[in-house]
Amino acid sequence: MSVRIVLGAQFGDEAKGKIADFLAASARHVVRSAGGPNTGHTIVLPEGPVVLHQLACGVLRHGVTGISGPGMVLQPFKLEEEIQGLKDRGLLRGEIVLSDRAHVLLPIHEVEDAWQDDLRARQRPEASLGTTKSGIGPAYADRASRFGIRLAELSRPAVLRERLELLYATKTHLAGLPSIDELAARLSEVGGRLAPFIRPTEPLLWDAIARGENVLLEGAQSALLDLDFGTYPYVTSSHPTSAGALVGSGIPPTELDSVVGVAKSYCTRVGAGPFPTEEAGERGEYLRRVGGERGATTGRPRRCGWLDLVLLRYVARLNGLTSLAITKVDVLGGLPEVPVAVAYRMPDGSTLRDGPPTHADELAAAEPVYEQRPGWPEFHERLKERIRREGAAALPAELRRYLAFIEDEVGVPVEYVGYGAHRDETVWLGPPGTRRRPVAIAAWNG
Ligand code: IMP
Repeated sequence: MSVRIVLGAQFGDEAKGKIADFLAASARHVVRSAGGPNTGHTIVLPEGPVVLHQLACGVLRHGVTGISGPGMVLQPFKLEEEIQGLKDRGLLRGEIVLSDRAHVLLPIHEVEDAWQDDLRARQRPEASLGTTKSGIGPAYADRASRFGIRLAELSRPAVLRERLELLYATKTHLAGLPSIDELAARLSEVGGRLAPFIRPTEPLLWDAIARGENVLLEGAQSALLDLDFGTYPYVTSSHPTSAGALVGSGIPPTELDSVVGVAKSYCTRVGAGPFPTEEAGERGEYLRRVGGERGATTGRPRRCGWLDLVLLRYVARLNGLTSLAITKVDVLGGLPEVPVAVAYRMPDGSTLRDGPPTHADELAAAEPVYEQRPGWPEFHERLKERIRREGAAALPAELRRYLAFIEDEVGVPVEYVGYGAHRDETVWLGPPGTRRRPVAIAAWNG
């Protein structure tokens, strides 16, 4: 039995959907515990690519339950479309369960999200967060201010109507909202259709754990977008950390076995916010083109840059990472050298190694100190075939040295390597315990 968390260790889009899908093969339950329609987890199946937004990747596997957990904010109309889309393609193979405690993200939250980001941009252009405009911030704000509506309330018409009236009273600043009557009717209808999936998910998971079944918590967004520990205010409104995954699923911390952090072999970010290793020029364009770096939810081009070990060391400690999955190593194949940021030089002359400064503007002013690592060969089909056949032993020696360098620098073993978009293009490097090297992490920023 194991309870395992897989989470993003950078700014999102680390190909963690692919790693979660790989790990889901040995799970009985896969749980999404935070976020909502802002998420886009791409999984390339033999039938073609699938992008999951509000469903856990377990729904793609026979015998696996995909749970959208209590910590999520779910947009029911989009969710219904997502379910129907999978059914139409014959890809809905597992069971869908939706937590009755998850909050409902309403179309009015989408309007409010756009209104808020416009307001920020009008005040100061650089204050715009570049959110996904899917209503995440306002939905979580209403949840915290106790104006929210939970999934279970969709099947209680009188309560739903009361909750909507109260919520609308707080939205007088917004124009063009649907009438309460219209929204209440649409919500009751969609609630009726989703009702077979809605139930309490905590007892389901507690019982599963007691029976010895494997549970995978599938993180969305990423640790550096965490509301408290990310690059505030350029963050999302949930807690995409290991602690957040437990809170958002109702699983006690004492049940947790392992935490896998997923990082690309380089780094990307969508939306605004500091990104010290960003390459704005030709080299960034190269990474964007070869890596196919466009947002899976919004289609926005991703900002691209190099692996940042200062941020990765911080994420490792913040989340208690027990292993790493390094993805998209094929994208860097054929480069003569690969830059990796090992420290920051700050404007006052100091050096930071083990974590970013607290303030976003200070992080933006950090100058990365790069180490150039030797590159590795291109990932031709022949090499991929060898890795599929022989496993990790077939990885190029230069790449293995790059991975060993990351392990030494971060103090966390690399357990998985992603070398292509397809479901079978992930390789396991063996149990982390056998390769762990004790690394003394220097005192905080010391
Ligand atoms: P929100 O989550 O839509 O409020 O957006 C807040 C910030 O998080 C923006 O910079 C988004 O681009 C970013 N963000 C939200 N979800 C994702 C994701 O799934 N991948 C990458 N970035 C994301």
